[in-house]
Amino acid sequence: MPEGSPLRLALFASGRGSNAMAILSAVKSGRLSRIAPALLVCDRENAPVLEKARDAGLPAIFLNPKSFPSKDDYEKGILAHLREKKVEALALAGYMRLVGPVLIGAFPDRIVNIHPSLLPAFPGLHAQRQALDYGVRVTGVTVHFVDLQMDHGPVILQKTVPVFPDDTEEILVERLLPVEHEAYVEALDALSAGRLRISGRRVLWNPD
Ligand code: GAR
Repeated sequence: MPEGSPLRLALFASGRGSNAMAILSAVKSGRLSRIAPALLVCDRENAPVLEKARDAGLPAIFLNPKSFPSKDDYEKGILAHLREKKVEALALAGYMRLVGPVLIGAFPDRIVNIHPSLLPAFPGLHAQRQALDYGVRVTGVTVHFVDLQMDHGPVILQKTVPVFPDDTEEILVERLLPVEHEAYVEALDALSAGRLRISGRRVLWNPD
């Protein structure tokens, strides 16, 4: 993978799309020179990310999970589009749906996710609110390879962010977002350079 043509990446998103846009900007600026965004897949019809991606020149599709008889069928439907675009890896960027065996099986060790906490703390929805409710003084972001569990799998990198006593959820979200964007670009650059290898639960950087 490190040699030759850029890694054909599909972005998966469900909402606002700031991480997806940060990745597209990094490709455009040359910072992610080994990534070729091929497609954006969205599971929500009115998600702002669809229009944002199209405006940035990336083909973007909405596939409705409810119009497929099962989760496997839904993922097979997605897979057909990914194959057509010759996608080699997936980046979940605010994709609020558990990835199942069909996609995991089709892209072994080739699916990454970003989550706004220091996993394994606060997986799932509203990670920032969970961190505030718990009373932690430090939280952060995690980029990790995806397995069948939610917000789970070998950690590629983490970055920390302080939490202050008078923070609101909105303030913490705003503090975390630019750190998410930076972390995702750094992780994808390493992935596309072939600098990551999974060894058990660990991710080795520059293994050779
Ligand atoms: C981001 O904070 C991302 O880390 C989070 O959803 C948000 C999407 O924002 N993902 C998860 O919570 C995954 N469990 P965005 O649409 O602006 O990128």
